[in-house]
Amino acid sequence: MREAAARLRAAGVRAAEWDAELLLRHVLGWSRADLVARSGEPLPADAAERFGALVERRAARVPLQHLTGVQAFWRHEFLVTPEVLIPRPETELLVERSLELLPATNPALVVDVGTGTGCLALSIAAERPLARVFGLDLSPAALQVARRNAVRLGLEARVDWRQGDLLAPVDELHGQIDLIVSNPPYVDPADPLEPEVRDHEPALALFPPGEPLSVYRRLWPQVAIALRPDGRALVEVGAGQADAVADLARAAGLVEVETWPDLQGIPRVVGAARPR
Ligand SMILES: C[S@@+](CC[C@H](N)C(=O)[O-])C[C@H]1O[C@@H](n2cnc3c(N)ncnc32)[C@H](O)[C@@H]1O
Repeated sequence: MREAAARLRAAGVRAAEWDAELLLRHVLGWSRADLVARSGEPLPADAAERFGALVERRAARVPLQHLTGVQAFWRHEFLVTPEVLIPRPETELLVERSLELLPATNPALVVDVGTGTGCLALSIAAERPLARVFGLDLSPAALQVARRNAVRLGLEARVDWRQGDLLAPVDELHGQIDLIVSNPPYVDPADPLEPEVRDHEPALALFPPGEPLSVYRRLWPQVAIALRPDGRALVEVGAGQADAVADLARAAGLVEVETWPDLQGIPRVVGAARPR
């Protein structure tokens, strides 16, 4: 593990020790406790070989989650493939705010735009058993991953998956939706990006077409029609985008526009309401 960590550090991997440990545990199927208790055992030959191969792929800057196939988010573990964005910890803020807006005793109608792994739609569905949840994505491949995650979590009867552009797939529900959540593509391709992101995560999930705010510019006017009166929307934004995205929400006729910071203090979520 020490050798692997040194190899990863030399390749520029940030959390080299952690990644080396995780890959070794992945190969052995061991918990952290196993690693402490069984560290005297010799490594089976095939495990050593598989570990070495994974470390080489990680040193080539393949994301850890593409090697282990999973990422933890909120209270669950989600399957991850190269077709979907790897769920990020800051996105958990969207779940937190959503749960504050959704009383557990109400059968709310919730729509997640650009669902990817389904991490938002499924986390909300799991926490709010009475909610009816839709997960939408332009990418059919992403929706397949989201469906597999729903089955794994036993939530397949609770979430409908639909393919299409922004809110178009649920046009029959326009005017009735209680809550819309979205973590849309907002990365500027001119920004410096780690090779794990730039070379391995789907461009459709990262980069908006044209300019960095183009998806919000199209999304807010659709939100203003799709929400029920007094319904709410919460979107994630990139660092430095919150004020401009809040202005776009107001320009679309939405009210009670607010922003919330993530754990690093970066304004990360913009919320808005349809007037009553
Ligand atoms: C930043 S990822 C978010 C994935 C997931 N919700 C999360 O938070 O981890 C954005 C998602 O939006 C989808 N997407 C991009 N453009 C879209 C569009 N015009 N309509 C619907 N979905 C879109 C991408 O395929 C991708 O799955």
